[in-house]
Amino acid sequence: MSKRVAVIGAGPSGLAQLRAFQSAKEKGAEIPEVVCFEKQEDWGGLWRYTWRTGLDEFGEPVHGSMYRYLWSNGPKEGLEFADYYFEDHFGKPIASYPPRAVLFDYIEGRVKKAGVRPWIRFRSPVRHVTHDDASGMFTVTVHDLEKDHEYSEDFDHVVVASGHFSTPNVPHFDGFESFNGRVLHAHDFRDAMEFKDKDILIIGTSYSAEDIGSQCWKYGCKSVTVSHRTAPMGYKWPDNWKEVPLLQKVEKNTAYFKDGTTAEVDAIILCTGYLHHFPFMEESLKLRTANRLAAANLYKGVVFCDNPKLFYLGMQDQWYTFNMFDAQAWYVRDIILGRIDIPADKAALLADVKAREDAEDALEDDYGCIRYQGAYTQELIDETDYPSFDIEAANQAFFEWKKHKKENIMTFRNHGYTSPMTGNKAPPHHTPWKDALDDSLESYLQT
Ligand SMILES: Cc1cc2nc3c(=O)[nH]c(=O)nc-3n(C[C@H](O)[C@H](O)[C@H](O)COP(=O)(O)OP(=O)(O)OC[C@H]3O[C@@H](n4cnc5c(N)ncnc54)[C@H](O)[C@@H]3O)c2cc1C
Ligand SMILES: NC(=O)c1ccc[n+]([C@@H]2O[C@H](COP(=O)([O-])OP(=O)(O)OC[C@H]3O[C@@H](n4cnc5c(N)ncnc54)[C@H](OP(=O)(O)O)[C@@H]3O)[C@@H](O)[C@H]2O)c1
Repeated sequence: MSKRVAVIGAGPSGLAQLRAFQSAKEKGAEIPEVVCFEKQEDWGGLWRYTWRTGLDEFGEPVHGSMYRYLWSNGPKEGLEFADYYFEDHFGKPIASYPPRAVLFDYIEGRVKKAGVRPWIRFRSPVRHVTHDDASGMFTVTVHDLEKDHEYSEDFDHVVVASGHFSTPNVPHFDGFESFNGRVLHAHDFRDAMEFKDKDILIIGTSYSAEDIGSQCWKYGCKSVTVSHRTAPMGYKWPDNWKEVPLLQKVEKNTAYFKDGTTAEVDAIILCTGYLHHFPFMEESLKLRTANRLAAANLYKGVVFCDNPKLFYLGMQDQWYTFNMFDAQAWYVRDIILGRIDIPADKAALLADVKAREDAEDALEDDYGCIRYQGAYTQELIDETDYPSFDIEAANQAFFEWKKHKKENIMTFRNHGYTSPMTGNKAPPHHTPWKDALDDSLESYLQT
């Protein structure tokens, strides 16, 4: 096979694509030449921790949004790879909410075993992707940062797996210019110890808000005030934590909220989400979507309707992650290998997107969203040889997770769930999350 496939990004989605092709090869299939371009020095995407913020040593925007002491916010039983179990990797059952380093180790273990590292060109940000209608080929322009050299190569297919939680959405509030403290976005948050003994204000009510607030609480901040635009999170928070309506303005260190109340704060952390941002894609190839379950303009959630030789992985809002990326990667692989046909007619591709959007719009609650994304993952798995697994068991792990968060937001990580792969229940972690200050792999794996 003389085809060439470019994969942009070696995070969990891009690595899923490499593993998908390697798995077909292992089973005797002829596969295209796969070249993965990764701007960082190592694989793992967001799961590779960096202390850097802003620009890196080459002047590139830092991709990392993860911080020290981050533990999985959902149960690992919802994200387990169906071709590489946690128990296989660690040689024993482990608890359900691994810290970042443990999940990085797991992600890395599978691709090390698959031997796909030589397919990746590190320190190689993609600068530009164009498509030539006459030849039907994509031209990918890449910057080799170490040689400081730009070059272009042609590919039959491009798979964009560059993530969408790295370009911060940064709103402005009156008075920020004169605030007497630090204003930062969650993307630049690294170490909760920075806020020890401080009064912090968080804007936003989603996972970053909940988790960064919880980190700061765990590592000794004085108080947490969380300001919402739409609705409060509504958990039973500790005594030094309160929820208030939207921030209106700040003056010196005083924050003013919509209900007329005020708070004195030392730092403001904007947990206001991220933008899908693809400056390297030519206009006609650029995905424009909100952060939702039915991403816009993607047939089956992955095929770019305006050019079906182009694919985007992992662009949905995420309940399911690693095994959904796998389902997508196996599906894309099989389109490229000619094992799966997709409609030739653009209207049919768009009709699929519309049906997914309508189905998402009809969902009533988070439970419906979890089922929806589980069913989507199942739908793709059913069309390929990705090992099928008990999606209902994964849904159940998510449902229990939600229940445990509602019971007590500061203890939910002390629970264990049943693996949809092995049927084994995870042991509880040896130390309650709030007392486990050491987030290293060695500490977590102690029994
Ligand atoms: C703070 C935070 C915590 C999270 N915690 C969890 C969690 O607990 N559990 C969970 O399941 N999910 C979590 N997620 C969700 C996360 O999106 C996924 O787990 C996963 O990392 C997505 O993988 P990805 O490969 O799609 O994207 P990413 O992990 O973002 O990887 C994208 C890769 O593309 C590379 N890249 C980007 N642009 C270019 C370019 N132009 N050229 C070359 N390379 C490029 C990047 O360097 C990066 O390596 C979290 C997200 C955030 C922000
Ligand atoms: N420990 C962990 O595993 C962990 C920790 C952090 C993040 N994450 C992951 O990171 C991803 C991103 O989560 P996220 O919380 O950063 O983003 P998100 O889910 O997109 O949420 C964005 C939040 O910002 C608010 N917002 C946006 N613009 C605003 C504005 N102008 N004013 C006020 N509020 C505004 C939104 O409020 P509205 O509701 O009003 O729109 C929403 O609450 C998720 O996949 C999550 O799972 C994981």
